[in-house]
Amino acid sequence: MTSPAVPLSLLLLFAILSNTFADPDPLQDTCVADLSSGVTINGFVCKPSNNVSANDFFFDGLKNPGLINNSLGSLVTAANVLKIPGLNTLGVSLARVDYAPGGVNPPHTHPRATEIVFVLEGELEVGFITTANILITRTIMVGEVFTFPKGLVHFQINNGVGNASVLAAFNSQLPGTQAIALTLFAASPPVPDNVLAKAFQIGTMEVDNIKSGLAPKK
Ligand code: GLV
Ligand code: MN
Repeated sequence: MTSPAVPLSLLLLFAILSNTFADPDPLQDTCVADLSSGVTINGFVCKPSNNVSANDFFFDGLKNPGLINNSLGSLVTAANVLKIPGLNTLGVSLARVDYAPGGVNPPHTHPRATEIVFVLEGELEVGFITTANILITRTIMVGEVFTFPKGLVHFQINNGVGNASVLAAFNSQLPGTQAIALTLFAASPPVPDNVLAKAFQIGTMEVDNIKSGLAPKK
């Protein structure tokens, strides 16, 4: 008998590894997060089941557009395990993003999730950058869907004349967000100026200007 082109052991290894690339599967029907517990585990400990109610699975915070009062002109409202404790261990969450005309959701990544967006209103230019540094971009309109692969840097900008909004879904209860500019120029303690100066091939004074522009306003 000829041996298969890909040995079974390799396929098994791939199946095991590929399972570790998303939130782990639940081991019970529900594990409503006890967000006030001091016990730290991977995720959150479960509340006692006699203390669980429908409200643990409910959230009405995505009904209306968020109030956009920042210089970016966009606002992300998350509906993750921190808002819906019943999502704990289920590996999914949502967000709503609202954009004023000209508003941008700046380049960022989600270390724990792929994201898929559905346009509720307006139109957006969206894009992500591959690890080969290729920009994949297009315009999306009401009712259309676009995907941002896990971990890749992506953005959206509202180049339209009216407001825009999307519903975003993630395959993680808590996708995590790292906004590139803030991660590099507003970390605490700060990333050393000489690291950023070399990385961006600019002077340390320019680094300090960017840092002060991104520092939280008092
Ligand atoms: C959009 O990219 C979002 O992360 O909400
Ligand atoms: Mn995103």
